[in-house]
Amino acid sequence: MAKSKDKTMDKLVSLAKRRGFIFQSSEIYGGINSCYDYGPLGVEMKKNIKELWWKSMVYERDDVEGLDASILMHPKVWEASGHVEGFTDPMVDCKQCKSRFREDQIDTSKPCPVCGNRDTFTEARNFNLMFKTFMGPLEESANVVFLRPETAQGIFVNFHNVREAARKRLPFGIAQIGKAFRNEITPGNYIFRTREFEQMEMQYFVRPDEDEKWFEYWKQKRMDWYRRLGLNPEKLRYHEHGKNELAHYAKAAFDIEYEFPFGWNEIEGIHNRTDFDLGRHKEFSGKDMQFFDDQAKERFLPYIIETSVGCDRTLLTCLIDAYTEEEERVVMKFAPAVAPVKAAVFPLVKRDGMPELAKKIINDLRGNFRVFYDEAGSVGRRYRRMDEAGTPFCFTVDTESLENGTVTVRDRDSMEQQRIAIDEIKSFLNEKIS
Ligand code: GAP
Repeated sequence: MAKSKDKTMDKLVSLAKRRGFIFQSSEIYGGINSCYDYGPLGVEMKKNIKELWWKSMVYERDDVEGLDASILMHPKVWEASGHVEGFTDPMVDCKQCKSRFREDQIDTSKPCPVCGNRDTFTEARNFNLMFKTFMGPLEESANVVFLRPETAQGIFVNFHNVREAARKRLPFGIAQIGKAFRNEITPGNYIFRTREFEQMEMQYFVRPDEDEKWFEYWKQKRMDWYRRLGLNPEKLRYHEHGKNELAHYAKAAFDIEYEFPFGWNEIEGIHNRTDFDLGRHKEFSGKDMQFFDDQAKERFLPYIIETSVGCDRTLLTCLIDAYTEEEERVVMKFAPAVAPVKAAVFPLVKRDGMPELAKKIINDLRGNFRVFYDEAGSVGRRYRRMDEAGTPFCFTVDTESLENGTVTVRDRDSMEQQRIAIDEIKSFLNEKIS
């Protein structure tokens, strides 16, 4: 990893803590590895990302319905999905210092990277990445349940419930946002790979002979979404899975990748899952998971095109993409729709009726927008704080405001100011944010 790139992550992590985007979980106890909490700005930003995804995947269409399935599911789900058997990483242990590594991430013919001893590795053993817990008061094997490692299975098992309740015909999709858990062996790169994270997944059910057409469609559609988030298009690319990379269920798969300071990495996976999932649930549950096409008088298992993205990973991507160092300031250049705070209102000075007018303006905006009032310190310092929070617009009440009902609005990116009427602030923000 290049040194200058390392520094970008360090500076971003420090800004994210200072401004209240992301904190280490349980920090007063020394933290817990790879778990993070979202602070006042982070939680707003995460909510914005989820809303933008939901808007694009559900509200702007008539062929996708929403779902919120439970995290704990019948243990047989994970047998059918292949996770009990196959969701494993091969691990080796150093017999000397007891460190554990993923076999594919170290060279076992060399010394242990922790203690430096040679020939101390055990044979590789498979380690399942699902978190286990017990349902009910008895901690025995019959009561083992898993924290879901993906939200997708909640969608597959509800295929008929949603189809019937929403009276859907093929093609149609089911969208879901929710937590997933993986006991990752090597979590890291801040919130890029964690053990608890949130996924935004959509499963699109199609006729088997239309899978390739819909796969192409969703591949394109999802890339467009990242552009709408305002991400630098030069840092986005597709990565097609080669035959040996494909998951056991997939006929074809593309990742959407972003160029992070630590290299190109996946942010989203788009998979043609064929009829694997419904077929397996049919086999394990004994229920008929087929779709009956009453026009063609055919009964068949639909194919599934999946789009799956981590919400936390999208947030990290937006933070990194927005982080800009200029000569005199650090500024987070978020798209207005992603920005945690949409506008700040300042009185130029704390007298002459300016705070009263500024508070009246902000109270008018509350309820429609997340806004922030600040009267502490020089206006220049207040602008800098808002630059680090990524607030796209700052409205300042000055002497002229009291005379003619206008304020200055300062654009975060160009730092240019113009005057607008107080009455127009709401429509100005509405237009800029949408
Ligand atoms: N249902 C398919 C599925 O879960 P995946 O490629 O394992 O596919 C999809 O995960 C997305 O979920 C990834 O592209 C990533 O954005 C996010 N993700 C997966 N594991 C993660 C982790 N440990 N921490 C944060 N995000 C993760």
